[in-house]
Amino acid sequence: MFPPVYVDEVAAHEGKEVTLHGWLHGRRSSGKLHFLQLRDGTGTIQCVVFRGNVSPETFVEADHLPQETSLAVTGTVKKDARSPLGYELDVKGLRVFSRPAREFPIGHKDHGVAFLMEQRHNWLRSPRQQAILRVRHGVEQAIRDFFDRRGFTLVDAPIFTPSACEGTSTLFEVPYFDLGKAYLTQSGQLYMEAAAMALGKVYCFGPTFRAEKSKTRRHLTEFWMVEPEVAYMDLDGDMELMEQFVSHVVQAVLAKHRDELVRVLERDVSRLEKVVPPFPRITYSEAVEVIRAAQRAAGAAEPAMTWGDDIGGDEETLVAAAYDRPVMVHRYPAAMKAFYFKKDPADPRVALGCDVLAPEGYGEIIGGGQREDDLATLEAALDQHQLPHQAFEWYLDVRRYGSVPHAGFGMGVERCVAWICGLHHVRETIPFARMMERITP
Ligand code: 4AD
Ligand code: MG
Repeated sequence: MFPPVYVDEVAAHEGKEVTLHGWLHGRRSSGKLHFLQLRDGTGTIQCVVFRGNVSPETFVEADHLPQETSLAVTGTVKKDARSPLGYELDVKGLRVFSRPAREFPIGHKDHGVAFLMEQRHNWLRSPRQQAILRVRHGVEQAIRDFFDRRGFTLVDAPIFTPSACEGTSTLFEVPYFDLGKAYLTQSGQLYMEAAAMALGKVYCFGPTFRAEKSKTRRHLTEFWMVEPEVAYMDLDGDMELMEQFVSHVVQAVLAKHRDELVRVLERDVSRLEKVVPPFPRITYSEAVEVIRAAQRAAGAAEPAMTWGDDIGGDEETLVAAAYDRPVMVHRYPAAMKAFYFKKDPADPRVALGCDVLAPEGYGEIIGGGQREDDLATLEAALDQHQLPHQAFEWYLDVRRYGSVPHAGFGMGVERCVAWICGLHHVRETIPFARMMERITP
């Protein structure tokens, strides 16, 4: 069995009889007419049941079907200017596949987020959640298109890894046979660096894991990250790639999913239309001054922010507020960055890294930069970060055999989707969120 016609195809069948397969989203009745909202994943159509057109049993049944009954509806496709779809179905017959065993837990009234997260498997059926998942799909497709069109090769990174990439404090440990401990990957970057020496331009795109002990609106313990890596690219080239990439993703999603964004998610898309190159670029030191000025303007005699402090969520919002498009903050203090960053030859206190901060308070969506390509300097950095050389021997080989300047970045899909959809929390951007306090459903 394969449904012959989907709701998003009915226009091609105007005036003809079709059978649609779906679920009952809702219904109402005027007595003589029953109106069934049938949802099939591609759209929702109003099915009109008129007493004169169906058997007496069908007419009664149509008025008693509970929400989420699965059913096939046969009828004639009619143009209808009032419906959002432009068409409705004049019903001739119904076939029920399965009546819900009990009342569907998510009705058409408001529910609290804690309840909805517990009901996530059911919550996905609501129009808003469907729209978000479609936008997420659009983002993922745009990501692949961008790199594929530029000649990058997709290289899948492993999920079990022998060592840390982004600091040892957020590692998930897994027992691994006789070899002891493995860790769930925090990033595919180190593997992409090796692959870039083979294939030039590469990217990986998969799930990554962080045992983040932070319950914020931006943190998940399992999230999807896309990570390009390019041989013979420096920080400037990397920043150009970041800005081209972010604009492409935003504009491609706007073109394809405007209806979901505007009608369902009520996103102010004029803010997204502005996301075109060039993006403003400021150094970390300049960002510190912007933050200090904002803190002074808010009444602080001595601003809390000083050079060397991390730029947290609140500070990111202060910096981003000055611009109408994403802002690129580069050259952070090397001391707060991962071991693999190359230091700026012009000022060794800072790393050749860059974060992209999204506007409207969405914060860091991209982190990346140029990698240390000198063997001895990288070995010293491992010592400074108290990382075991043995686990990184293979990674040091990237510097032993034809080392070249290279750079890349990582973008978290969920933060990008939250920004594009205008969602407060990343938990709604991933089908089944994993957070410190949640592992079900
Ligand atoms: O800045 P991060 O930690 O950078 C890296 O992992 C680099 N190895 C990437 C690279 O250069 N190849 O993470 C990159 C991005 C962040 O900007 C953010 O979008 C996302 O990954 N991210 C998270 N998203 C959701 N929940 C978390 N706990 C996240 N941690 C990072
Ligand atoms: Mg970061």
